[in-house]
Amino acid sequence: MKRPLAVLGGEKVRTRPFPTWPVFGTEEERRLLNALRSGKWGKLNGSEVAEFEGCFAAMHGCKHGIGIVNGTVSLRIALMAGGIRADDEVIVPSYTFLATATAVIEANAIPVFADVNLETFNLDPKSIEAAITPRTRAIIPVHMAGQAADMDAIMAIARKHDLLVIEDAAHAHGASYKNRPAGSLGKAGSFSFQSSKNITCGEGGLLITSDDDFADACRSIHNCGRMAGGLWYEHHVISGNYRLGEFQGAVLNAQLDRLEEQIAMRDHNGQYLAARLSQIPGIYPQKRPADCTRHSYHLFIFRIVAATFGAPRSAVLQALGAEGIPVCGGYALPLYRQPLFLNKAFGPYLAPSSAKLDYAAVKSPNCEKVCYEQGAWFEQNLFLGAENDMDDIACAFEKVYENRHALKSLVQ
Ligand SMILES: Cc1ncc(COP(=O)(O)O)c(C=O)c1O
Repeated sequence: MKRPLAVLGGEKVRTRPFPTWPVFGTEEERRLLNALRSGKWGKLNGSEVAEFEGCFAAMHGCKHGIGIVNGTVSLRIALMAGGIRADDEVIVPSYTFLATATAVIEANAIPVFADVNLETFNLDPKSIEAAITPRTRAIIPVHMAGQAADMDAIMAIARKHDLLVIEDAAHAHGASYKNRPAGSLGKAGSFSFQSSKNITCGEGGLLITSDDDFADACRSIHNCGRMAGGLWYEHHVISGNYRLGEFQGAVLNAQLDRLEEQIAMRDHNGQYLAARLSQIPGIYPQKRPADCTRHSYHLFIFRIVAATFGAPRSAVLQALGAEGIPVCGGYALPLYRQPLFLNKAFGPYLAPSSAKLDYAAVKSPNCEKVCYEQGAWFEQNLFLGAENDMDDIACAFEKVYENRHALKSLVQ
């Protein structure tokens, strides 16, 4: 006999809460108190940020780590250090968070959108090629949800056209591509430690690179244009104070102790859930190519194909939520459909050539399908428990599928 859906008055599959985020403990307290009592609260005279920069860079096999206020500013600093100039074009995915593209605008350059692969949600190399013009200078691949983009293909395009590659690894702490850490594959990798991220200090960011000159340029831009060995009030380039603070560094060092274990847990649970959900008609978890040797599952993204499942996404998400499974539809709009782009509300950053741009004419069909019809996300904290948490998610899904015809009453 069918179990009635919770959304229609039946019992919930899941009544226990899922693991919460952030996870923290006495090590965060100890380090924070030490930093507080030391009176050295800024990066320039403390040791916490420096320690974290070194550890995080080493964990990625990179020579340099530069702690920055957040993952939006770190992207912009990387573009500036990479020599991006006014009116240059930078290719970004249509399916990403706002910051990947606004960092380009704030570097006085022009974001050009390329589509993603419908199955991996990562930049489609063919769409990148199609977006290249004589003014293209850089590509920002995003490792979407924590699964590395197709970096061999992207680096080959970059070599062919002499383009800078800055990896937006805001979702990808601990992810790997062909056993090489995500973030270490292009010129630089940019990370975010904002509250939702897989390692967090509330707000924070960091760049990693193995290029000495590039690292010097990033350090200078994030530190008021100062140069190593220069005078305190000697400023060489357009820049600002974008340094990460010591309290953030203290929390990040403590978080780092748990990161490996948490990455392994998320990757295990994510793969387990993907295998279970793939059995349900019309449910397509993010396809994992063999190149993805570790997925950080900042998000677990999947598609709901209504015609195959037998009910539309909105009704499925509502029913899952009622079963006690936190889920959402993810980015609701392709980035180029945000009012910011349609109105070119770029403020002082409206590049001279932007006048000719018409973002209303951009089309990324796969991204549109994911945003408007099919995409759905689970957040990373759901994956920090045991396999039986995944079983509950899968059971709720199976129950919704069994009752898919009853969902008609939920369709607006
Ligand atoms: C893909 C992506 N890039 C960049 C950022 C920006 O990071 P922050 O919020 O630390 O500025 C985010 C944050 O959500 C993100 O998801």
